[in-house]
Amino acid sequence: MSNRLNVAPNDLSAFWMPFTANRQFKQTPRMLVAAKDMHYTASDGRQVLDGTAGLWCVNAGHCRPKITEAIQRQAAELDYAPAFQMGHPVVFELANRLVDIAPEGMDHVFFTNSGSESVETALKIALAYHRVRGEGSRTRLIGRERGYHGVNFGGISVGGIVANRKMFGTLLNGVDHLPHTHLPAKNAFTRGVPEHGAELADELERIVTLHDASTIAAVIVEPMAGSTGVLIPPKGYLQRLRDICTKHGILLIFDEVITGFGRLGTPFAADYFGVTPDIMVTAKGVSNGVIPLGAVFVKKEIHDAFMTGPEHLIEFFHGYTYSGNPIASAAAIATLDTYKEEGLLTRGAELASYWEDALHSLKDARHVIDIRNIGLVGAIELQPLEGHPTKRAFTAFIKAFEKGLLIRTTGDIIALSPPLIVEKEQIDEIVDCIRDVLQTID
Ligand SMILES: Cc1ncc(COP(=O)(O)O)c(C=O)c1O
Repeated sequence: MSNRLNVAPNDLSAFWMPFTANRQFKQTPRMLVAAKDMHYTASDGRQVLDGTAGLWCVNAGHCRPKITEAIQRQAAELDYAPAFQMGHPVVFELANRLVDIAPEGMDHVFFTNSGSESVETALKIALAYHRVRGEGSRTRLIGRERGYHGVNFGGISVGGIVANRKMFGTLLNGVDHLPHTHLPAKNAFTRGVPEHGAELADELERIVTLHDASTIAAVIVEPMAGSTGVLIPPKGYLQRLRDICTKHGILLIFDEVITGFGRLGTPFAADYFGVTPDIMVTAKGVSNGVIPLGAVFVKKEIHDAFMTGPEHLIEFFHGYTYSGNPIASAAAIATLDTYKEEGLLTRGAELASYWEDALHSLKDARHVIDIRNIGLVGAIELQPLEGHPTKRAFTAFIKAFEKGLLIRTTGDIIALSPPLIVEKEQIDEIVDCIRDVLQTID
């Protein structure tokens, strides 16, 4: 157990915290010092139920012995091997294990260290793929409003969250965006996949008409948009995007950084919706969030298109010092073992209707204007406090933490994604706590 329990660091100023209200945090810090299964331990010794799987990543729960041991063992045996022009067996084993559970036809994996790096990698693969096939004019990338694809320049360019883009100049050229699919007037309080909005995929045809297909490399979307506040694709929407991409020779990229590894009750969202992309971006749950790792899956045709020319030449000029490093690879294999042994990649499907009922019981709770759910993901949208957008949800976040529950908020939306080992009583606890919190805040 941590020796940091009840020991506060004496100075919080040096660390510039990511995506955090730094000044607010440092006045009243929320410190986590240990974790086990469904709970964190806060620095004052309180148990805090994890309603968010960390940041959508700790799918098997915290400090799982198999994963911890694998990391310890690997660190003592082979700590690091050069990622370029050298190999080690663990990463090859991991790639095979991942391909085994991937949607049919996604036969090759490129490793990165995060979701953001996986996105950049996918965009670069798409551009280079067209070029190696002699279609170098296909350089445009199409994202979607409200999309989140990490924080690097490619990702924020195709992404559609204004706060993440507006400070950073002109971004990548030649990027266009599909409209988002959030239609509260028609779909509010839908249980599961919403009925209305599939036609929004047809906007891709308009973009193709504007630019011509010969200039477009790829479309990237989150099959379910998580970070923007859980926007579930309307019935038929993803299939329509798939059909339009196929018709025009445009690659379809699914960003499954959140939806990958069981979050929707299937291994990937591609399985849930029965729509297979050409490239699939993953991270987070691949290593149970324990150690940085990302994996980009590609179809065989894409990989094979690069495998031409003299054999001593590098086929794709891209990679990271830590791509598929031994310790992260060992952690990921142990993660996949844990998922398999405990049936976690499909456990969300068993719990989905209980989860749905529990969440929608909040329909009449104070401030609630919409509830959305899919698999083991939920969103509770609050009426913003007049003149102070985001404040109400942020207050709910602070109060929930004080009451022993970790939730996540984005705008005025509470997003929930507990570890896939969650029990029904813990689902009740999450919902009861949120109801109490909403009752007490302005
Ligand atoms: C869909 C999606 N893509 C990319 C990312 C970026 O991942 P990372 O923070 O590991 O760079 C995230 C993170 O939440 C995400 O949700």
